[in-house]
Amino acid sequence: MSFRDLPKVELHLHLEGGAPPVFIRGLATEKGLDLSGIFTEDGGYAYRDFDHFLKVYEAACTTLQSPEDFRRLTLAVLEESASHGVVYSETFLSPDFCGGGDLEAWRDYLAAIEDAADEAEAKFGITLRGIVTCIRHFGPEQSRPIARCAVETHGRFIRGFGMAGAEMMGRPGDFAWAFDCAHEAGMHLTCHAGEWGGPDMVADTMRDLAPARIGHGVNAIKDPALVETLAEKGTVLEVCPGSNVFLGATGDWAAHPIARLRDAGVKVTVSTDDPPFFKTTMTHEFDMLARTFGWDEADFAALNKTALEAAFCDDETRAAVA
Ligand code: HPA
Ligand code: ZN
Repeated sequence: MSFRDLPKVELHLHLEGGAPPVFIRGLATEKGLDLSGIFTEDGGYAYRDFDHFLKVYEAACTTLQSPEDFRRLTLAVLEESASHGVVYSETFLSPDFCGGGDLEAWRDYLAAIEDAADEAEAKFGITLRGIVTCIRHFGPEQSRPIARCAVETHGRFIRGFGMAGAEMMGRPGDFAWAFDCAHEAGMHLTCHAGEWGGPDMVADTMRDLAPARIGHGVNAIKDPALVETLAEKGTVLEVCPGSNVFLGATGDWAAHPIARLRDAGVKVTVSTDDPPFFKTTMTHEFDMLARTFGWDEADFAALNKTALEAAFCDDETRAAVA
């Protein structure tokens, strides 16, 4: 068996970021929206840098206007993930794009997403769980209704709370109210940090928001003492190497710190982030790690084990996936 055939566990996937461009283009046509500016001639997403990526992402999200749109999106994303051998996936869900943070609207969107997840589990053999995510550049005030959406829908499907968006806006502590609220409700926590921010951003995130997992976290490599702390505490990094390389966050594959972090004892996992935006898949991530660092089947089996242990699902689901 090749490492390519291993069942894969993915922990860091933005649901809207998994939308194939043809899917968004189709919705735009259906709704009479002119989104030609966000696509390249060959049909991909067009953007210049990370800030522009966030704008194009939000423009793409304007086509997702109803629970039914999210039902179709969820099915399309999970069919694609399952085709790369993913058997368990966690996805960031943003109530901001599902009714603007209104709780009753969010419940309707979520019902449609869960319905699609159940259908995908039966059809494609992939299990999905959700992490409600506030968006940093929408500001600390807006993170409060999002935390409320998270807490009110926490259960079998919604397992965690997190934060994505423009990392350099404000400081992690500005969002402590939302994270505390989710933590007190017994939710699992993760937060994007150390993709664009330095080791200080990772350290402040750990101190002020105390997440069990960090999204990216790769810039921790610049501070050996912090790397040691991550290893000691067992903080899990949701590393997305293809995303980092594509956006220029870390240099090329050979320069990527994932192997050094792993070899220093940090718990690393591998995900795609926003696969069609970064022209990646879980197959591509595994192939590039094998090619760049010589990782073999045992390395990838260990990687999947770390990811499953760090998954936010309940133990019954974990056992069923393993
Ligand atoms: N990083 C940060 N915020 C995001 C991303 C990402 O890759 N995708 C959607 N929101
Ligand atoms: Zn991300």
